[in-house]
Amino acid sequence: MTSLEKHLDERDLARSLRADVREGLSATPRRLPPKWFYDARGSRLFEDITRLPEYYPTRTERAILTEHAPEIARLTEAKTLVELGSGSSEKTRLLLDAMLGRGTLGSFVPLDVSESALVEAVDALGLAYPGLSITGVVGDMTRHLRHLPDGDNRVVAFLGGTIGNLVPAERAAFLGELRAALHPGEWLLLGADLVKDPGTLVPAYDDAAGVTAEFNRNVLHVINRELRADFDPLAFEHVAVWDPEREWIEMRLRSVRAQAVRINDLDLDLEFAEGEEIRTEISAKFRRAGLAAELAASGFALRHWWSDPRDWFSLTLAQADPI
Ligand code: SAH
Ligand code: AVI
Repeated sequence: MTSLEKHLDERDLARSLRADVREGLSATPRRLPPKWFYDARGSRLFEDITRLPEYYPTRTERAILTEHAPEIARLTEAKTLVELGSGSSEKTRLLLDAMLGRGTLGSFVPLDVSESALVEAVDALGLAYPGLSITGVVGDMTRHLRHLPDGDNRVVAFLGGTIGNLVPAERAAFLGELRAALHPGEWLLLGADLVKDPGTLVPAYDDAAGVTAEFNRNVLHVINRELRADFDPLAFEHVAVWDPEREWIEMRLRSVRAQAVRINDLDLDLEFAEGEEIRTEISAKFRRAGLAAELAASGFALRHWWSDPRDWFSLTLAQADPI
């Protein structure tokens, strides 16, 4: 049994894209929020990234989930599994299988800003899990957590390391809102990528086949289409750098020449100098102590921490404290 709830329609999306593009591209240095990568093409490109040899997070997190899903099902006795930034929900099947196997789970609620990815995932899961109630929510996890269905014993999965795509202030606000949306004792299952050798990190964001470069440039295709702009995406090169102080990867688009860009729907003319960059994403990498402190500051107690043998990726089970 599947259904779809929409908390974002075309008009909301258009309004927030306009505001983000006007604000971000007028700022110094210029920036764009990563959520705009994910139209249908961007979501497909992300799935291609997950299969690249250099991109270790997906397969590492899948291995951790394979090993620990039955334990997670036993510890949580989840009745409802919510998934934020769910994308294809491929790895989530490991949790669904374990929770259904335990006999506690009644519903699954994936939430994503990308309607195309969500609809595809809900259709596929509906066929694979005919007895499960599946409600896809088209929404922004930084704005729509209060619309999550109420329940008891919910587990909120936030996988893939997407928490690292929020800048620290957004992350704190997000965790605080998530805590407020949960009852004491409910659960957060958080996948977070860990600090490691830059020789491993950088290629994961700058692969030899150029898929990540195409994913990065996709935001320019989105702006061209949605806001009638005339970016030449190939006149921007993909850049991925490790920032050792802030412990995050920064993805940027660097203008290969001096160029003018017009964004018709914003009546905005931009001049890019040769070498000028737009920051399009951060992907923060974590350490156990820092993550535990951030969770505690937002009212979550870290109950379990799982990792892979190389300590490359972490899966944390945290529980909402009484407020
Ligand atoms: N969880 C999946 C997908 C990760 S890709 C995995 O682990 O493989 C990140 C996903 O988050 C994309 O599907 C994207 O559309 C979604 N996303 C990004 N920003 C979002 C936001 N603000 N609100 C909701 N979903 C968002
Ligand atoms: C979705 N998110 C966790 C990915 C990451 O690794 O930060 C997005 C991504 N950007 C480049 N490659 C993958």
